[in-house]
Amino acid sequence: MQLLDGKVTALEIRQELAAAVKQRKIEGKKIPHLAAILVGNDGGSVTYVNAKVKACEEIGFESTLIRYDDSVPEDILLAKVQALNEDKSIDGFIVQLPLPEHIDEQKVTLAIDPKKDVDGFHPMNLGNMLLDIPGFICATPAGIMELMERNNIKTEGKNCVIIGRSNIVGTPLSLLLGRNKSPGNCTVTLTHSRTQNLAEICRNADILIAAIGQPGFVTADMVKDGAVVIDVGTTRVDDSSKPKGWKLVGDVNFDEVAPKTSFISPVPGGVGPMTIASLMMNTLKAMELKGK
Ligand code: GUN
Repeated sequence: MQLLDGKVTALEIRQELAAAVKQRKIEGKKIPHLAAILVGNDGGSVTYVNAKVKACEEIGFESTLIRYDDSVPEDILLAKVQALNEDKSIDGFIVQLPLPEHIDEQKVTLAIDPKKDVDGFHPMNLGNMLLDIPGFICATPAGIMELMERNNIKTEGKNCVIIGRSNIVGTPLSLLLGRNKSPGNCTVTLTHSRTQNLAEICRNADILIAAIGQPGFVTADMVKDGAVVIDVGTTRVDDSSKPKGWKLVGDVNFDEVAPKTSFISPVPGGVGPMTIASLMMNTLKAMELKGK
């Protein structure tokens, strides 16, 4: 078993991005500027957004964090999105999800200028991805592809089973893995809550990706010997032995599954750092696509 270490791979990417920023400075070019909107105080969202801002600082990107209270009216949020669309100093921005129930997430996503949508959530970017037109690929799926590619995991002709069909992970990832490109060319099975005989389907996977947000859902009996297992789950679970009083737990029961695998990504330190690295890559790309 080999660990798919997202921390190490993401550090490699951040170093490449830092070098690109340095070069841009030498050439007198603009430094990428990422903005993030965070609504409310959800623990997970606060952690992720802070990590995104910290990554910007580390690489040398500029960053702006805009915070609103849980009760912010939808029209105020939409007006901010519009202002960021028009702000020439901002190259890309994200609105951290989930949003409070009184705000229509779809309306917010549609309001973002696709050229600044570094999360790749806008239908224009999802469509571009489908047709292999340059644009932004959602950060988590892009991060998983990058993690596999940089660790020499071959996808060509492999059976890939994805558990979870969310709009931001499972569904876009199924398209990336199935496309006629390298990495890609997998035979993809996208499973979900109505899938029958899930364990049996998973046992057929050369590459098994769990993205449902249910701690420890994938057990050893669901995994083929020698499979590659990628864990996208990040659920906070109370743990009084930890300084913060909680720990992050993945969708895979790591201890029992790991010995059966050829590669496995841990939680934390697997897909999470890769999502952030991909967002940074997309932010640099936002400038390049503009020809800046
Ligand atoms: N919530 C969970 N993952 C993400 C992400 O990649 N981007 C945003 N904006 N919100 C998220």
